[in-house]
Amino acid sequence: MDRRKAMKVAAGAIAGGGAGLLALTTAFRNENKQNKEPKNLEYNAAENKWEYFYLDPAATAQLAYDKYSEGSCMYATVSSVVLQLAEKFGEPFTSFPVHMFKYGHGGIGGFGSVCGTLNGAAALIGLLIADKSVQDKMIADIFQWYEKASLPKFNPQNSVFDFTPPTSIANSVLCHASNTNWCKESGFQVNSKERKERCRRLTSDVAQKVSNSLNEIFTGAYVSNMHSNEAANTCVACHGDEGKIKNTSVKMSCNSCHTESVGHRVFADVHYKLMNE
Ligand code: HEC
Ligand code: HEC
Repeated sequence: MDRRKAMKVAAGAIAGGGAGLLALTTAFRNENKQNKEPKNLEYNAAENKWEYFYLDPAATAQLAYDKYSEGSCMYATVSSVVLQLAEKFGEPFTSFPVHMFKYGHGGIGGFGSVCGTLNGAAALIGLLIADKSVQDKMIADIFQWYEKASLPKFNPQNSVFDFTPPTSIANSVLCHASNTNWCKESGFQVNSKERKERCRRLTSDVAQKVSNSLNEIFTGAYVSNMHSNEAANTCVACHGDEGKIKNTSVKMSCNSCHTESVGHRVFADVHYKLMNE
């Protein structure tokens, strides 16, 4: 049966009533599923001159908070880990150009794309973890945690601006969506001191998360896929490189940008079944 015929059958089912349609879409349901169960992630710390030793996540979070005013979110995240390693090991960390990471503020030079503190966490993973596939998994884990978490949570010892920000869920790794969702939730403007304090504390949350991840990976205690996104996995099962359509390479939460159309909901399964591999 070609695609056009399939659509006719599907249209017939609509005419035949909801029960027929339901039977049809169930019959054609895609069985392809990604396996994203939590599992232990192993890493052999190969010869890497960028060494690591256990960092106290709470102290790392406080350091990130203190560094924020010097260069914003990405800079503070990277500094919070690198400065502690420089103190312990000296070179090459002492010469590491942390100033460079000021570029990541406001979603890269104020562009509103990837959140700077996530960009900083990913940079640290890139520096300290040699294996690219392990890097990818750790980055996805932190990004997926961030999409769903209610943040900020961090409580500083001596606050720069005395304000406890309300929390919000970003449902996105983008600076723009994350900030604007928070503004909607809290009623504050994006250029307010309150919003800055929110990002300052959010930076601490992510610094804490990434130092914790690094502690776990270097002690063999790291469990991957803890924040796996079921909905996105379903989409990627058809649209990703293991599906038949292969037109997306995405792990972000799809529904922050796409809402499923009625046509898609009704026809995607049937259409997919009839597509060639
Ligand atoms: C059963 C397989 C399947 C699943 C699961 C699936 N899709 Fe699709 N999707 C399709 C097919 C088939 C098309 C049509 C593609 C074509 O003809 O090239 C499509 C088209 C699309 C399009 C473009 C056309 C339109 O309808 O807007 C978008 C965007 C899209 N899908 C997003 C998603 C998202 C987001 C999800 C998860 C909520 C998802 N898809 C889940 C099969 C699937
Ligand atoms: C940050 C926003 C964003 C996120 C998140 C996102 N997309 Fe998209 N997607 C886009 C944009 C922009 C396009 C380009 C087409 C357009 O403008 O509609 C696109 C295009 C697509 C298309 C092709 C549409 C077509 O007309 O053929 C598919 C399929 C798709 N996305 C699937 C996904 C899936 C699956 C996910 C989650 C795993 C996802 N997208 C996450 C923004 C996003």
